[in-house]
Amino acid sequence: MTSAIIDLLKQDQFFKKDIIRLLETHGEDRTLLFKKSAEVKEKYIGNKVWFRGLIEFSNICGKDCLYCGIRKGNKNLTRYNLSDDEILAAARFAYNNKYGSIALQSGELEGSFVAERIENLLNKIKELSHGELGITLSVGEQEPEVYKKWYDAGAHRYLLRVEATNEALYRKIHPDDSKHNFRRRLDCLKSLQDIGYQTGTGVMIGLPFQTMADLADDLLYMKEFNIDMCGMGPYIEHADTPLIEHSGTLLPLKERFDLTLKMIAILRIMMKDINIVAATALQAIDPIGREKAVKIGANILMPNITPGKYRDSYKLYDNKPCTDDSAEDCQSCLEARVSLADAVVVYGEWGDSKHYSERRNIQAGKD
Ligand code: 5AD
Ligand code: FES
Repeated sequence: MTSAIIDLLKQDQFFKKDIIRLLETHGEDRTLLFKKSAEVKEKYIGNKVWFRGLIEFSNICGKDCLYCGIRKGNKNLTRYNLSDDEILAAARFAYNNKYGSIALQSGELEGSFVAERIENLLNKIKELSHGELGITLSVGEQEPEVYKKWYDAGAHRYLLRVEATNEALYRKIHPDDSKHNFRRRLDCLKSLQDIGYQTGTGVMIGLPFQTMADLADDLLYMKEFNIDMCGMGPYIEHADTPLIEHSGTLLPLKERFDLTLKMIAILRIMMKDINIVAATALQAIDPIGREKAVKIGANILMPNITPGKYRDSYKLYDNKPCTDDSAEDCQSCLEARVSLADAVVVYGEWGDSKHYSERRNIQAGKD
């Protein structure tokens, strides 16, 4: 097997069958995959990690995804919505601690109130940081005009996970109604890219009904769409969600974790200069899960800087880590662990996707 994998890893673009093969590696072959992806990261990104201070500003969600702990139908949690002052205080914390960027994340809500509130917050965050804090938004599907309004107000990156690129699988993990429309999700991603955002997507790994072929297609989709950023993590069941009834069919957690690392490694080889997040869900399975991801290809970490008292209520899945830490604790423990992964945290820089600037340059050349 090993020599075949060595040959395969001489390439950087793969057919679906090759990706499936790489996803199925173990032992020495898997080590070779990780070695290669680490080399690619070192060459194109360096041993660097950038922070996005994560502010989970509200767990109120208008949708009902069958896997998600903050789905509208879950009555078993306290809903919260940070005040503007609390959000701005968290942004100030990020700025004072030289995090180059923040990420504003919440459940998915649409409407003019939300649109204007976020626009106003973006303006204020830009003001308090003298334009220095980079801002990633992750607040779901919105109308193109809303995306544009936020872009004009200073958000420059947007993360919208497609969750699963196989439409049949997507339908199995979402309610069958107009609020959970696969095509609209893809259209949203396209409008984000057209508006000019650094555009990120991702999937969950180890979902019920998901196959290796689905995962291979997910990576091919990301390549074809030409994403700038990726955030993908293992699916972790949540007791208060409908998908829990399929928990007996899932891969063991350890295998979902392992598969996530392989997905990151393969994507790093295929898309050398994009930003890849080491997802928090990795840490729910392995205490140094995110650092393992950094070692083999990820270059973005999202330390949680949501005020501590709300964290317990932003449980997308069971066993979510660090929900009782304060932001400062998170920073120092992360820094120590990043150094274990032989990487260094870069402060005071946005850490934009290199792929984005390359892509824009190429586009400008064509126009
Ligand atoms: N397990 C892992 N990830 C989850 N997410 C939501 N629910 C779960 C879960 N049970 C992820 C989705 C979403 C992101 C904010 O969290 O991919 O886009
Ligand atoms: Fe909130 Fe899916 S449950 S977006």
